Amino acid sequence: MRAYVLPKDSRSLDQLRIVERPAPVPGPGQVAIRVRAASLNYRDLLIATGRYFNWPTPRELVPLSDGAGEVAAVGEGVTRFKVGDRVAGCFAQADPRGPASGPELPTGSPLDGVLAETIVLHADGVVAIPPSYSFEEAACLPCAGVTAWNALFGTGKPLRAGETVLALGTGGVSVWATQLAAAAGARVIVTSSSDAKLARARALGAAEGINYRTTPDWDEAVMRLTEGRGVDCVIEVGGAGTLSHSFRSISPGGKIALIGVLAGQAAEAVEVQALRFRRGSLHGILVGDRPMFEALVRAVEENAIRPVIDRVFDFEQARAAYDHLASGDFMGKIVISL
Ligand SMILES: NC(=O)c1ccc[n+]([C@@H]2O[C@H](COP(=O)([O-])OP(=O)(O)OC[C@H]3O[C@@H](n4cnc5c(N)ncnc54)[C@H](OP(=O)(O)O)[C@@H]3O)[C@@H](O)[C@H]2O)c1
Repeated sequence: MRAYVLPKDSRSLDQLRIVERPAPVPGPGQVAIRVRAASLNYRDLLIATGRYFNWPTPRELVPLSDGAGEVAAVGEGVTRFKVGDRVAGCFAQADPRGPASGPELPTGSPLDGVLAETIVLHADGVVAIPPSYSFEEAACLPCAGVTAWNALFGTGKPLRAGETVLALGTGGVSVWATQLAAAAGARVIVTSSSDAKLARARALGAAEGINYRTTPDWDEAVMRLTEGRGVDCVIEVGGAGTLSHSFRSISPGGKIALIGVLAGQAAEAVEVQALRFRRGSLHGILVGDRPMFEALVRAVEENAIRPVIDRVFDFEQARAAYDHLASGDFMGKIVISL
């Protein structure tokens, strides 16, 4: 079978290459999945270029955490799945080289990822995909979708109908959060560097859009749009560079789901007073667990929510898919079809 690999201590996308390997065989409790689609997350770009928390790739590694496909074989003792089932792997998995009950680690680094024609996972780390979804659509769920679900409903105060959500940017996590929050009856405000993307976000259910390039003090715009009250939940994918604005955007008792680092991992100063005065809460989010993934699958199926796929690349074009992610000239998810 063919697989993409990054070398140990990968520093550049130029180091991504295709190799031929024997197809892995499932051991007891494991399933082999014929991967049909994979999607990229911002994290994958950081990993390939050696910028992921300054944690270099620990060894030659199959990249990408998010994929979907068909069960091709099951190992001894597997009862949850059978050959032919349509599935996706969870973002975090038990280390296949350790005990099944061991701590879960992220796929795509330090565990091998999904950009391979066949992968083997423990059956406990696998979820049935929404029946109406294509493999390309299902590949958008494991990291970005589950993270958005966790931020809105899993960690801290769960979102309620009638509340207001602020989603920063129009990348994978934020577009999922926009769609899920709108479906839950929330009012969604989206920020973006692009007016065209804001128009598309409105078509997906956002009530308002703010261009953070032309309106650098976007927290003031948030306050105007909420008549001085602020939002109940911020999907904070910017990190250090946006956190002060997010603190100033929340309502009394509002929640900030701290997810990403698109605007920097460290800042000279973050204005913490605004969070304190508003008695707000700040929650670190780390994707989510299998029950959250399963709840998300039910929610998207029940509410007919489909992921926003910007572009699908062929397996041979994986490098171009990474380059498209790096360009920032996309909205939602970038997918590779296998
Ligand atoms: N903690 C977790 O569990 C978890 C899970 C998933 C992702 N993450 C992190 O969350 C972040 C988002 O991930 P992703 O995969 O959704 O990224 P992505 O798809 O690559 O998102 C890119 C988009 O983010 C927006 N953006 C960039 N800089 C921004 C800024 N300064 N302010 C507001 N928006 C900005 C841009 O939107 P516009 O083009 O509209 O301006 C850009 O197109 C990343 O840092 C990622 O590592 C963390």
